[in-house]
Amino acid sequence: MPDHTRVTATTRSRPWLSGAIPVLLLLLTLVILPLESTAFCPSKCQCLGGEANSRALCVDAALEDVPIQLNPETKYINLTVNRIRTLEFSLPFYMKLEILDLSQNIIETLGSKNFEYQSELRTLNLSRNLVSSLHKHAFKGLTNLLLLDLSFNRIETVHPTALSDLASLVELDLTNNNIVSLEDNCFKGMNTLEVLVFRNNRLLDVPASNLWHLHAIKSLDMSLNLVEFVRNDSFEGLKELLALSVQGNVMSELDLSAFEGLISLKHLDLSDNNLTRISHPPSNAPSKFVLPGV
Ligand SMILES: *[C@@H]1O[C@H](CO)[C@@H](O)[C@H](O)[C@H]1NC(C)=O
Ligand SMILES: *[C@@H]1O[C@H](CO)[C@@H](O)[C@H](O)[C@H]1NC(C)=O
Ligand SMILES: *[C@@H]1O[C@H](CO)[C@@H](O)[C@H](O)[C@H]1NC(C)=O
Ligand SMILES: *[C@@H]1O[C@H](CO)[C@@H](O)[C@H](O)[C@H]1NC(C)=O
Repeated sequence: MPDHTRVTATTRSRPWLSGAIPVLLLLLTLVILPLESTAFCPSKCQCLGGEANSRALCVDAALEDVPIQLNPETKYINLTVNRIRTLEFSLPFYMKLEILDLSQNIIETLGSKNFEYQSELRTLNLSRNLVSSLHKHAFKGLTNLLLLDLSFNRIETVHPTALSDLASLVELDLTNNNIVSLEDNCFKGMNTLEVLVFRNNRLLDVPASNLWHLHAIKSLDMSLNLVEFVRNDSFEGLKELLALSVQGNVMSELDLSAFEGLISLKHLDLSDNNLTRISHPPSNAPSKFVLPGV
């Protein structure tokens, strides 16, 4: 709409232009129409495959937006290493999308409901962007997503329902963000999540009230955070957990009964902490402890 306003203003100040406008519109229509009827591959992209299995590679192409003129049947779009800042109004065109790589762009916000029509999406890579918070409906519609890579962003806040549509998610990577704490129930409904990586954030506590929802979790990496103390109810109910790392935190004291309910645990890494006191010996010690010298 702002464009229209500009045209009207220009016309009023320069009456001779008014005759040129219909001609311009006709030219525009001639340019736009063919693009709408058939798919178009931007010059900096490479479009492969036929109608049924089309793929678009627009890697390192200096793009500032997600191209909207690609084949609407496209299942794979690779936009890594570009200058994309926003996702607004671009993704509804691709309802068949299964794999989307948006890593290494400059996206500051994922906005709200921008993935609403991507119910077929399985892999979403948003690594190495500038995302600082996840809003209420950030991932709405992604009910079949299996893998979400949000590593190397600046995420500080996560709305309690931001992740709630991700009912099929298996792997969530939050490495290298700025998360200090999570509100309760952020992981509610994520019954299929198996791998959660929180490496290098600023967590002060184990987000126990969130982990509680992850009935299928197998691997939890909380290394390089600021956890001081692991409470005895920290990992309650995580019966499938095989690997847990709390390496590189600032723990000085440990209540080992915290690990008691972890009946499947095979790997526990507590190295690089400041452990001087362990308050409770485990009754069923896991087969492989990586214990620091205490
Ligand atoms: C996107 O392209 C880059 C560069 O070719 C590649 O390394 C990356 O694996 C691709 N992403 C996906 C999801 O295939
Ligand atoms: C996502 O993209 C980054 C950077 O392009 C890459 O290093 C990473 O391996 C990708 N993640 C997945 C899960 O493929
Ligand atoms: C956990 O610790 C609290 C106090 O630190 C204690 O009251 C409670 O009984 C403990 N629970 C378990 C299951 O060890
Ligand atoms: C490690 O623990 C000792 C003893 O509790 C304490 O004096 C020291 O300041 C701690 N160091 C760090 C880096 O927290």
